[in-house]
Amino acid sequence: MTQRGRPEVRVHPTLEALSEAAAEGLVALAETALQEGDRFTIALSGGNTPRTLYGMLAGKYRALIRWRQVQVFWGDERYVAPDDPRSSYRMARETLLNHVPVPQENVHPMPTLLSGPEEAAEAYERELMSHFAGQWPRFDLILLGMGPDGHIASLFPYNAALEEETRVVTAVHTEHAEPRVRLTLTLPAINNAKNVYFLVAGKEKVAVVNRTFADNPDPKAAPASAVRPVEGDVVWWMDEGAAGGL
Ligand code: 6PG
Repeated sequence: MTQRGRPEVRVHPTLEALSEAAAEGLVALAETALQEGDRFTIALSGGNTPRTLYGMLAGKYRALIRWRQVQVFWGDERYVAPDDPRSSYRMARETLLNHVPVPQENVHPMPTLLSGPEEAAEAYERELMSHFAGQWPRFDLILLGMGPDGHIASLFPYNAALEEETRVVTAVHTEHAEPRVRLTLTLPAINNAKNVYFLVAGKEKVAVVNRTFADNPDPKAAPASAVRPVEGDVVWWMDEGAAGGL
């Protein structure tokens, strides 16, 4: 158990090894959630790094998770059609959800076919609040990656979305990534989680990891440094490439 509030860093030699260790941690979190209640609620991440973990959850660890009691949400989404090759929902379907017996009604993609991202953010916020009985969502686990620029979910450095304090989900317009229009959980929503796992691998991340773990990080430049759940734990699953400067 990590000391509340201080991120725990677990470094492994390779992406494969960190993904395996994260999968084992996820299985344990799911078990705990299902001992305490009737569901395990997770928010998935997009990007490439989680693909290895998703493949393991669909393979070696498939039988260790009670998929019928798993509720699947997303931490962010590109504002593209669900069958668009850039869709995080599509990536999770192809690498994980099409291969495990999670009921369709338990899979809650961010809506990306509404009149616009602002309406979609409001709709997803309503869906989350409804799922969490009118309370702010408190995910058992939020999976996050981190871009070389420091973005997490679709919270980009210096972006206005980082300042959002009252919304659970917000629309994002960014010049720093394609697609430029996205939906994302806000920092307060992320910080309401019981557990946050960062999955970060590759030498190209070493500079942003060092910025994030510096003594007085600037949360605008390194949003991940602001991920400090009030009642929750953060674990950074990294490979030696990304963690080389720690
Ligand atoms: C996305 C993700 C994004 C991702 C980072 C890191 O939509 O792309 O939500 O936040 O986690 O860009 O991506 P990699 O893991 O591929 O480096």
